[in-house]
Amino acid sequence: MQQELQSIWADPRRPRIYIIDQRFLPHRLVIETITSVEAMARAIREMRLRGAPLIGVAAAYGYYLACLHAERRGLDRKYLDEAARLLASTRPTAVNLARALKRQQQAVAGTVAAERSARAYACARNLEAEEIDCCRRIGQHGLTLIEGIHRQRPPTGPVNILTHCNAGWLACVRHGTATAPIYAAHERGIKVHVWVDETRPRNQGARLTAWELARAGVPHTVITDNSGGHLMQHGRVDLVLVGSDRTTRTGDVANKIGTYLKALAARDNGIPFYAALPASTIDWELSDGVREIPIEERSAEEVRRVRGLAGRRIREVLVPPRESPAANHAFDVTPARLVTGLITERGICPADEQSLRRLFPENSPAADNQSTP
Ligand code: MRU
Repeated sequence: MQQELQSIWADPRRPRIYIIDQRFLPHRLVIETITSVEAMARAIREMRLRGAPLIGVAAAYGYYLACLHAERRGLDRKYLDEAARLLASTRPTAVNLARALKRQQQAVAGTVAAERSARAYACARNLEAEEIDCCRRIGQHGLTLIEGIHRQRPPTGPVNILTHCNAGWLACVRHGTATAPIYAAHERGIKVHVWVDETRPRNQGARLTAWELARAGVPHTVITDNSGGHLMQHGRVDLVLVGSDRTTRTGDVANKIGTYLKALAARDNGIPFYAALPASTIDWELSDGVREIPIEERSAEEVRRVRGLAGRRIREVLVPPRESPAANHAFDVTPARLVTGLITERGICPADEQSLRRLFPENSPAADNQSTP
């Protein structure tokens, strides 16, 4: 295994993609080898890997594996279109996935069959490198925010940051989005302490964010999902920092279910609430997140059961009565009015259309018109 751990990486010599199977963390570090588009689709659907930027990169590698298979078996474009549909159907909320597939389809368009897999491999590698670079930059921009809060605080105490779900390097490739500023501050020697929402039903906070922070030596405390409001009322949270699975051009933020309630509590207590996201997560087509962003509904069994270490084995137990049904809405949307700002790879801006377009002028309608022949 390579020295600095990534959530996904490709073998440059063989058609193999490696992922960390996140279902077993924090108790086991399991690396899975993926060699087919079907296996990649399964890994995304079953959340062996998850997080918006990561599922974009994973889908791109999945498409590359499909190109390779098509090349070896002499399969035509119909097979590739089917492979793209399979990958696109795995998870609906994060826009990164659809965007990565679009890029792959553009990369191989107009090429002869024998060139496709090389093109698709290069495209996936580029996407991976871009996501790493975006997260690194998000970390640098977000660091200024934490430094600012740190300057205003009594010098003895840490900056207390509350985060929800896992927007760490496990959800990206390296650095993370919401965690990148935290890691940057920690490396700079600024005292930080992170309140980690456990994030039911799959406990991405308790399992994944806590694991990441522990590995990096960042002080943190796991809390139940309902604790944030109480901590905010008692002055124990300085900043709420979350990731995003899809952000509209108007600044509405879709993220793991429960994020919206944290934003409401933050607003009621005058605490800054920031979402950290790369441009690959912005959906320029949408303006009303609550109505327009598709919210994934997952199996009720994820709510009814809890998984953890019992002795030396990872086990699952049933919590409610056997006959009680459950509902599992995986994401919610925090309206822009509750978001203090967006931390992107190009800087921090208010959550509104004008500010986003100023940071990303290539996405303005005028730029679209210019590029249309
Ligand atoms: O269902 P998940 O675990 O894929 O949800 C992930 C999140 O909600 C993250 O906060 C989001 O993808 C941002 S990742 C940097």
